[in-house]
Amino acid sequence: MAQQPEHSDWWRDAAIYQVYPRSFADGSGDGTGDLAGVRSRLHYLAELGVQAVWFNPWYPSPMADGGYDVADYRDVDPAFGTLAEAEKLIAEGLELGIRTIVDIVPNHVSDAHPWFAAALAAAPGSPERDLFHFRPGRGESGELPPNDWRSEFGGCPWTRTVNADGSPGQWYLHLFAAQQPDLNWHHPQVRAEHESILRFWFDRGAAGVRIDSAGLLAKDPALPDFTPGREPHPYVDRDELHEIYRSWRRIADSYAEPRVLIGEIWVPDTERFARYLRPDELHTAFNFDFLARPWGAAELRASVDATLAAHAPVGAPATWVLCNHDVTRTATRYGRADTGFDFAAKAFGTPTDLPLGLRRARAAALLSLALPGSVYLYQGEELGLPEVEDLPLERLQDPMHLRSGGTDPGRDGCRVPLPWSGAEPPYGFAPPGVEPWLPQPADWAALTVEAQSGDPDSMLELYRAALRIRREAVGGGFGWLPADPGVLAFRRAGGFRCLVNLSAEPVALPADGAVLLASGPLTGGRLPVDTAVWLNGS
Ligand code: GLC
Repeated sequence: MAQQPEHSDWWRDAAIYQVYPRSFADGSGDGTGDLAGVRSRLHYLAELGVQAVWFNPWYPSPMADGGYDVADYRDVDPAFGTLAEAEKLIAEGLELGIRTIVDIVPNHVSDAHPWFAAALAAAPGSPERDLFHFRPGRGESGELPPNDWRSEFGGCPWTRTVNADGSPGQWYLHLFAAQQPDLNWHHPQVRAEHESILRFWFDRGAAGVRIDSAGLLAKDPALPDFTPGREPHPYVDRDELHEIYRSWRRIADSYAEPRVLIGEIWVPDTERFARYLRPDELHTAFNFDFLARPWGAAELRASVDATLAAHAPVGAPATWVLCNHDVTRTATRYGRADTGFDFAAKAFGTPTDLPLGLRRARAAALLSLALPGSVYLYQGEELGLPEVEDLPLERLQDPMHLRSGGTDPGRDGCRVPLPWSGAEPPYGFAPPGVEPWLPQPADWAALTVEAQSGDPDSMLELYRAALRIRREAVGGGFGWLPADPGVLAFRRAGGFRCLVNLSAEPVALPADGAVLLASGPLTGGRLPVDTAVWLNGS
């Protein structure tokens, strides 16, 4: 059934599905997911009951970082399709009540972007180099990097260039991989270009943008060494960012249906974080505090409280995120001794109890879908996919792995192509016999959309039911209810309640109210360990 996009503040409580285009569905039959594949599966997303889709970057890119190295912000990579196809996809989505959010990557471009090619070809001190951060090296002959920063992907964030005559030249800054040179956001041309890119996609019907690495754009122009504890940080969460986002907000608000700005902001201080969500800045931002918390009642409750307290004064809705294309999949993470998430702690060979992780992931789904605000679902989360941890090393592509000297498993394990149908790879992701760009496990037959559809005990049917009930019966208000310390219990408007048992013992269910949905079997009027339940009013 087609839902009609109705209200302009839809983003306040939307369920938003994240598509990693490379791994969603392959329409062209070359082993890489593409827009044709997404278009052929739009009905799946409509049936699932999400209101919007956020697409990871689909722009022309050498794919040094899965598309976060953008060579042209106004086109689509031929591996994914064409610009005309993206326009069709946006329109077809809307017909099914699904809005499109595109991924904007403002911190850096690809080294294949014409601006960077021109900068490399130009001389030190040229206007072309001014769009980036080029600096002479330190040391006697400039052989040392200009400062002591560390790349977000590990190693040095500076790469030395070679002059036209073959002699060693200036260095350029890249907070991520060497193929992702950082832009100089103090330059008016950088600002003007990105404002024009926003308009480009908004004019094509994009309902909003997800802003990549939104807390890192502004750098201290002196590019000083990093001094632990000294504020402001030379490149994280700097005050200059707010003016940039205010100008973006004016553009977003100039559309008849205002467009939505969603920030990827890894700022641990929830009050600093909420500053980006003031009424004239971004609309929402991903709640990484919640995502990174271990599976424990006190931890999760503290995160919910801190989140709601920080958002309330700025009037912005919270968001709830359990995973994305950068982090360990929920079903795996919750089955480990350390159930929190930390990039630095990722390691090969971490023991995992997958049935336990899946049980908790089911409960976490009901928890996150019942909280006030919007919620993000990363493709495959609704199938309970685990992290794939035994990919052949030579197939790994993530620069996080490659730059770590092979010690960090990287993020490929959460980017394995989706299983749609059938008993063996490529499980309907691509035509039979076609090898997906990352290999799928041999034991995913029971996890396909086909296998889970209609099975009331499956993760997919749990998500379908939860998203339906969320639309129909979950809204308004929020308050904690009295409960054991190991239990999270809260109410929303109209008597709706959510209870999650994170303690070591089953607990009694309230005597009143009917069960709307449970993440696992309820026996003898009790809520088992690692189980969540939704109840209505009595
Ligand atoms: C963001 C993206 C991540 C990417 C990085 C650099 O964190 O989510 O996938 O590698 O930015 O663009």
